Amino acid sequence: MNKAALITGGAKRIGKALALNLAQKGFDIAIHYNSSANEAEETRNEIEKIGVKCKTFKCNLENTIDVLDLSSKVKEDFPNLNILVNNASIFDNIDFLDVTPEFFDKDFNINFKAPFFLSQGFARNVDKGLIINFLDTRVNRTTTEHFVYNLSKKSLYHFTRMAAKELAPRIRVNGICPGPILPPPGENKEYLEKLVDKIPMNKIGNTEYIVNAFNYLLENDFTTGECLFVDGGKHLNY
Ligand SMILES: NC(=O)c1ccc[n+]([C@@H]2O[C@H](COP(=O)([O-])OP(=O)(O)OC[C@H]3O[C@@H](n4cnc5c(N)ncnc54)[C@H](OP(=O)(O)O)[C@@H]3O)[C@@H](O)[C@H]2O)c1
Repeated sequence: MNKAALITGGAKRIGKALALNLAQKGFDIAIHYNSSANEAEETRNEIEKIGVKCKTFKCNLENTIDVLDLSSKVKEDFPNLNILVNNASIFDNIDFLDVTPEFFDKDFNINFKAPFFLSQGFARNVDKGLIINFLDTRVNRTTTEHFVYNLSKKSLYHFTRMAAKELAPRIRVNGICPGPILPPPGENKEYLEKLVDKIPMNKIGNTEYIVNAFNYLLENDFTTGECLFVDGGKHLNY
């Protein structure tokens, strides 16, 4: 039986690139999605053509009860699960003084609480495995833009290191801190190109750089609690 991976937000963009990469390596794939049902179906078709099992799971990560349910459903269908990728996220921006409790809860539920409880479910269900959390180059910076988003990613950064310690040697827990890779949903390429001057490597990234970093974390079983900055050195300019 193949080993299997759950990728949250795996229907498109970075999550899809990670799902296809793992399928090509022979993993069965559980794709989590929320609103992108059509894209999830397309990705499932592409993965099945590679020759591994793939199933899609709809879940709004804002709802913690549904998140707990997602862990059990995936384990039922994929008893051989051994990788969890916490990739799904929202990237909202509201000034600190305008943040409402509802806005705060939404950001934290999706970006922090869901990865927390999916990791807990994963750790309860598997004997050995790997968790990779998607963070942001901003975790290195005391920026007040995207205030709650950045706080949620900083929390996930510290969770990654704490969980790595707690779950070793059974489960490795690592993170990836992307810089500008893809424009945020609704923005075009110019959004990222404006940032090039602030990036020491003078270019924007692409999903291949992320997949490359992911594969390092996948293959190096002496690495845990590590958060790799894949950002052209952007974190150095903070
Ligand atoms: N793109 C970049 O350049 C960049 C830069 C820094 C950090 N990152 C981090 O890298 C990861 C991947 O980036 P990305 O740009 O590919 O992500 P993205 O497209 O912004 O989001 C990934 C997925 O998150 C899911 N999601 C959003 N709200 C949800 C909810 N309420 N319930 C369940 N799922 C929800 C969406 O699934 P559905 O579409 O199915 O609703 C979406 O497709 C993220 O964690 C992001 O923070 C990316």
